[in-house]
Amino acid sequence: MSKVNLAVDLNGLKLKNPILTASGTFGYGLEYAPYLDLNRLGGVVVKGLSLWEEEGTSPPRIWETASGMLNAIGLQNIGVERFIAEKLPKLKEYDTAIIANIWGKTIDDYLKVAERLEKAGDISALEVNISCPNIKKGGMSFGVSPDSAYDITCRLNEATSLFLIVKLSPNVADIKPIAKAVEEGGADALSLINTLIGMAVDVETKRPRLKNITGGLSGPAIKPVALRMVYEAIKAVQIPVIGIGGIMDLYDVLEFLIVGARAVEIGSANFVNPRVTIEIIEALEGYLEEKGIPDVNEIIATLEVE
Ligand SMILES: Cc1cc2nc3c(=O)[nH]c(=O)nc-3n(C[C@H](O)[C@H](O)[C@H](O)COP(=O)(O)O)c2cc1C
Repeated sequence: MSKVNLAVDLNGLKLKNPILTASGTFGYGLEYAPYLDLNRLGGVVVKGLSLWEEEGTSPPRIWETASGMLNAIGLQNIGVERFIAEKLPKLKEYDTAIIANIWGKTIDDYLKVAERLEKAGDISALEVNISCPNIKKGGMSFGVSPDSAYDITCRLNEATSLFLIVKLSPNVADIKPIAKAVEEGGADALSLINTLIGMAVDVETKRPRLKNITGGLSGPAIKPVALRMVYEAIKAVQIPVIGIGGIMDLYDVLEFLIVGARAVEIGSANFVNPRVTIEIIEALEGYLEEKGIPDVNEIIATLEVE
């Protein structure tokens, strides 16, 4: 029995510890079961689900950079129906929060996926990826304008009683009005950041490294940007914020918690070490014991700026 409390409560979403996996970097959770005990995680955020099965973009679609990676997977997934039939029954055998990351091309797509997941049961929360292109608005993403971010959050809030986490895009000039719009639209929490847009070129062939030309940059390279955006979002809203971006170890987690994130998601680090989430949970527990801090909540939002 641990001497310290790791449990956090995100205004209704109760997690046994603040360590979650980031969507797209942990499959549907079950793929990692041979390497670690899923019961020990605060929660599993599954690969982004759409109404249809999505093949994603053509390879090459991953490129390693100096301090992170570029990916252009194109939101490949098995679709919400197969997720409910094939993955959810096994996933719910574990005692951990199941958070379904969802996306669509239109608001209706999002609503249908959300309704389907709510009906299926056993989902602790939805994480809404508003960073993907909205075809009906000419390839823009819902996450880049406060108005469209408000609209989609509002509609989802009316359509489902599931806990609603809206995941923000960092590819905006100012995150604060978008964070506020999402809060006003009725989101229960925010998570950020998604990947930054980047590219890499092969100088021999003079061709882009990715078939898609550009891709999403993740990993240690984006941590300072993520931390700054989480800091700004926390100042703009009252709802809980989940920090994501370049978290590789305990000290990265502590930075996000000190800034005020109530939980964090670990992404690219899972590709380097599939057991990283468990190692971080153990390190967090050890850190609190060593420092004589009885409760992880005592660390959250302790940033001193004076
Ligand atoms: C290969 C890959 C696939 C991803 N797929 C998704 C996805 O389906 N939905 C989503 O919201 N974010 C997706 N992301 C973004 C991550 O969840 C996370 O926001 C981002 O990688 C930053 O965290 P990190 O630096 O810890 O990796 C993906 C990231 C990677 C690297």
